[in-house]
Amino acid sequence: MDAQSLNTLIEQLPKAELHLHIEGTLEPELMMTLAKRNGVALPYESVEAIRAAYQFTDLQSFLDLYHIGTEVVITEQDFYDMTMAYLERVALDNVKHVELFCDTQTYTARGIPVETVLNGIDRALQDGRQHGISSALILCFLRHLSEEDAERTLDAVLPFKHLLAGVGLASSELGHPPSKFRKVFARARAEGLKAVAHAGEEGPPAYIFEALDDLQVVRIDHGVRCLEDPSLVARLRAEQIPLTVCPLSNVALCVVESIEQHNFKDLLEAGLCVTINSDDPAYFGGYMNENYRQTAHALGLNAGDLIRVARNAFNAAFMSDAERQSHLDQLDRLEKEYTQ
Ligand code: HPA
Ligand code: ZN
Repeated sequence: MDAQSLNTLIEQLPKAELHLHIEGTLEPELMMTLAKRNGVALPYESVEAIRAAYQFTDLQSFLDLYHIGTEVVITEQDFYDMTMAYLERVALDNVKHVELFCDTQTYTARGIPVETVLNGIDRALQDGRQHGISSALILCFLRHLSEEDAERTLDAVLPFKHLLAGVGLASSELGHPPSKFRKVFARARAEGLKAVAHAGEEGPPAYIFEALDDLQVVRIDHGVRCLEDPSLVARLRAEQIPLTVCPLSNVALCVVESIEQHNFKDLLEAGLCVTINSDDPAYFGGYMNENYRQTAHALGLNAGDLIRVARNAFNAAFMSDAERQSHLDQLDRLEKEYTQ
């Protein structure tokens, strides 16, 4: 299949994005607009200066900058505008379902109430259905903070539980293993929330085991280091635990040297339920289609591979079976068209 036909298929694929930090969609233009609107001083002179600062050496070097960006997001309308800008952008990529991470701890630490964050995002998600995009919201605990802080966060969001599909775990991975959050995840699950966690991005395979055993997650975010342990790969394959892989993020944060060096195809060939996602697209150089395109071209994925990856995402999504089936049916039609 030639490159152009592969690109056309990528555009036509209905896609589900399962690993997306809403603050990671804040483009420099909107960052400047919100900074002006709210009278927040940014350490950048221009949109170009913001983009030029995006040179990362690891996860922490990114998180430090990402945190500065969050300082301009203050009012419910800001959360609405940030979320709506993302939805309008990914509608162009034929994304049909999104699951967003938000972290309220970043904001409550500055005195912004959880309802401001959750209501602003939720209102945009409801309006996003007009663009034909279904959605779910996942509250991420920040793992560099204590479990007690996460417990207080869970208490604060439980009155808004109806807005949430699940809880996740984000921020600095090394030194903050999943087992640190065993109790708060157990309580969240007892409240009916699904559990996911970032593991095996920079952290070792042991962190992926902990996420499965101690947090009882139903998906692993990233998980690319799983290939270092064959017994882990066997388990992930047997249980078909979805991995929400973010190829351009892994390149930007030096988890891999280049997109050509990414192990995505090995994960796929190992029989794992892998998906492609954008993580923090405003920072890492691409939204969904760009992640699909660069991964496909660099690693030689074919039409069947890409359709399988898109199908994995809908199978792994927190959505009703009726909605899921309509997207899977469309993927079946594309498969007939492209692989005969
Ligand atoms: N890893 C951990 N925390 C994050 C990330 C990530 O890739 N993006 C935003 N918060
Ligand atoms: Zn992430």
